[in-house]
Amino acid sequence: WRGGPLAGRRVLITAGPTREAIDPVRFLSNRSSGKMGYALAQAAREAGAEVVLVSGPVSLPSPAGVAVVAVESAAQMYEQVMARVADCDVFIGAAAVADYAPVTVAGQKLKKHRDRLQLELVRTPDILAAVATHRPRPFTVGFAAETERVREYARDKLARKGLDLIAANPVGPGQGFDRDDNTLWVFWPGGERDLGTASKKALARRLITLIGERYGQENRT
Ligand code: PMT
Repeated sequence: WRGGPLAGRRVLITAGPTREAIDPVRFLSNRSSGKMGYALAQAAREAGAEVVLVSGPVSLPSPAGVAVVAVESAAQMYEQVMARVADCDVFIGAAAVADYAPVTVAGQKLKKHRDRLQLELVRTPDILAAVATHRPRPFTVGFAAETERVREYARDKLARKGLDLIAANPVGPGQGFDRDDNTLWVFWPGGERDLGTASKKALARRLITLIGERYGQENRT
């Protein structure tokens, strides 16, 4: 499938968690391992694409032939993605980007002399929404990680953010984050496909094939 619709195309992928600093030694983050995004990068590379992976802190080896840009925070991920968005054909947001970050980062390690501590948080930039509204924009693929009403929330995100395609996964204890397997349901304007439950590597190949099909169709018309 190296001669397929993604051959020679530039694919930009985000993966992993972000870390939002509280002080020099502490941060807010989530359970993303990066496995889904790294598997997508490898599958896109195997489909003949030129792949750049903007990755939060994970402990995975770089997939062969993929350029990895390491970032830590949502703000850094936003900057690195926006610096490349004009030069890519397909964007896939598989990262679990923190939605909120501390308003201020303490210069020194916070001391525990109070019984209660309040952290004030502020929204981080929405990378996927910024890519989807960029002109010219790449074929834009989002993920939806939901603990309930997965299909409904995914369809809503697809429409609200004006995406070309969204991959929804049920997440929670024993599902989605930090595992080798996953379940994916995919939606696009006017269609949907159940990719089933399988290893993230197998699902990544199925999703990349589907993205290639949809991308190929949109770029013929
Ligand atoms: O990394 P793994 O352990 O393999 O786990 C895989 C995964 C469950 C993390 C992955 O499959 C997944 O679902 N990634 C998206 C997780 C997420 O943050 O979903 P969300 O529904 O909160 O966000 C929706 C979309 O907006 C995502 O494409 C996300 O990358 C993007 N987003 C969110 C917030 C933000 N500030 N910027 C963004 O770009």
